Amino acid sequence: MHSIMPPGEAMTVRLAELSDAADVAFVHVSTWQVVYRGHMPDDLLDNLSVEQRTSMWERLIPSGGVWVALDGTEVVGFAAAGPSRDDDASSELYAIYLLPSAWGSGLAEPLAEAALSEMGDVVLWVLDDNPRARRFYERLGFVLDDMTRTEEFGSAIVKEVRYRRS
Ligand SMILES: CC(C)(COP(=O)(O)OP(=O)(O)OC[C@H]1O[C@@H](n2cnc3c(N)ncnc32)[C@H](O)[C@@H]1OP(=O)(O)O)[C@@H](O)C(=O)NCCC(=O)NCCS
Repeated sequence: MHSIMPPGEAMTVRLAELSDAADVAFVHVSTWQVVYRGHMPDDLLDNLSVEQRTSMWERLIPSGGVWVALDGTEVVGFAAAGPSRDDDASSELYAIYLLPSAWGSGLAEPLAEAALSEMGDVVLWVLDDNPRARRFYERLGFVLDDMTRTEEFGSAIVKEVRYRRS
């Protein structure tokens, strides 16, 4: 199996398998509920469905580009990357999420680098007001470019900024 050992013996990063879909969905929903609280409507966050997200990840995982971070046997994070949805970049880091209990564990960096391995020009979009994630991306060598966009989440309109690593 293609796996990378980050610091800490029990911590591993590997390509996601179909059977990880429910765990990835759990990380996705529970991390959103913490990080985006106050940025997006409570009812939208409270109604996020792990079941719906599981179906989504079951569709996406077989295409590749989805990686999981494990603490022992527990999936504590995931990252997804692939072709850029913007026409001025080749690849995109679509998402990287760690459960809050794993923040600062050292897993985020090997997880991101695994997802980004063999990718050239990479862009990513992040909430303007997400200082921890922005600091993390900057440490990885991502640089703000001049692209911004707004996204609607229910009644909330949030500003996102784009980072690039060439
Ligand atoms: C983004 C994420 C994967 C990074 O993983 P992590 O383990 O938290 O990252 P690290 O601890 O290695 O690095 C975070 C950096 O932000 C810094 N930081 C922490 N809190 C901060 C804050 N409030 N403001 C600014 N910087 C902050 C840390 O000190 C560290 O920087 P340093 O290495 O220079 O000390 C993780 O925080 C996460 O899953 N967040 C929620 C989901 C998310 O926002 N994903 C990105 C969506 S685009």
